[in-house]
Amino acid sequence: VIKMNELDLSGKRVLIRADLNVPVKNGKVSSDARILASLPTIEAALAQGAQVMVTSHLGRPTEGEYADEFSLQPVVDYLQHALSVPVRLARDYLNGVELAANELVVLENVRFNKGEKKDDEALSRQYAALCDVFVMDAFGTAHRAQASTHGVAKFATIACAGPLLSAELEALAKALDNPARPLVAVVGGSKVSTKLTVLESLSGIADQLVVGGGISNTFVAAAGHNVGKSLHEADLIPEAKRLMAKCDIPLPTDVRTATEFSETAAATLKDVSEVTDNEQILDLGDESAEQLAEILKNAKTIIWNGPVGVFEFENFRRGTDIVARAIAESDAFSIAGGGDTLAAIDLFGIKDKISYISTGGGAFLEFVEGKTLPAVAMLEQRAKG
Ligand code: 3PG
Repeated sequence: VIKMNELDLSGKRVLIRADLNVPVKNGKVSSDARILASLPTIEAALAQGAQVMVTSHLGRPTEGEYADEFSLQPVVDYLQHALSVPVRLARDYLNGVELAANELVVLENVRFNKGEKKDDEALSRQYAALCDVFVMDAFGTAHRAQASTHGVAKFATIACAGPLLSAELEALAKALDNPARPLVAVVGGSKVSTKLTVLESLSGIADQLVVGGGISNTFVAAAGHNVGKSLHEADLIPEAKRLMAKCDIPLPTDVRTATEFSETAAATLKDVSEVTDNEQILDLGDESAEQLAEILKNAKTIIWNGPVGVFEFENFRRGTDIVARAIAESDAFSIAGGGDTLAAIDLFGIKDKISYISTGGGAFLEFVEGKTLPAVAMLEQRAKG
């Protein structure tokens, strides 16, 4: 693909599609990770003397309808503090925008435009007509074939990959194509069903596949243990057995249980074979977490998505804490992605110790699953001419 930093952007109208889909609370951005990751791209385009527009979706509004709660205004406020140039929000922009160098124009939430989500051709052409150069930099939305990601890339005079998108793709390729071994994957989260494809693909390439959270409970049940009232999916036990035959999937020997799912529930540490009918497993036990820590310390590549226990509850945080610290202390090339994973990284303060933190949730998983990201495929097609 053509990369933004290979182009001369001076005097050009540049449209950057970023993923600024950040959480907003009381009109303020409550987690700025995605904006921080996009800032260098915006700054580089401004520094080159381009006339810069940036756009994104935010949330999932009813398509085609403006709604205050999904406005990019909080993002504009944030950018105004972060940048030294004036930042302006444009609401009506589809028929053209007045632009100048040394200012940033933010185009309002693309999902307020009818046709955005179905990759409408007329809308894609309108986005394309706004700019001389389209920069696709929204890795987090690259798995969506929508007008502002895929369609505009098809019709823009020049379509290129932004530095964030390029960095994400390079980091993922480093972990997945020819990784330094052992490659250890950690997949946590509540349900096997939502992560089945990613488990399937990682079980084919990882030397060890660590499962955590509700996912792990299904595997524990598959190994013949009683999981009581634990979150698990009995219908997926055959799948779990099949994956265990295919790949080394270490299972917990001890767990922390509770008789209710609550912040204040007391934790009982016990052998995995002793879980009773009225209990639920909410975290790994210390012995199991230390075993995983050992595996992670010896890894050369780590792919991490999802916590291994209910880390939001203080009494059930220890397993994720031990695993997270082991990933942080490991010399492996480590890559982490997904909303819950990033929250855990923040909570344990290990941000600087992970080799690469992806801004993608769904896009990260789809890439790991080996799926083609439509917006990236379009950039590749355009580069071939
Ligand atoms: C995300 O948060 O994963 C991306 O911004 C995509 O958002 P979407 O799932 O609403 O398309």
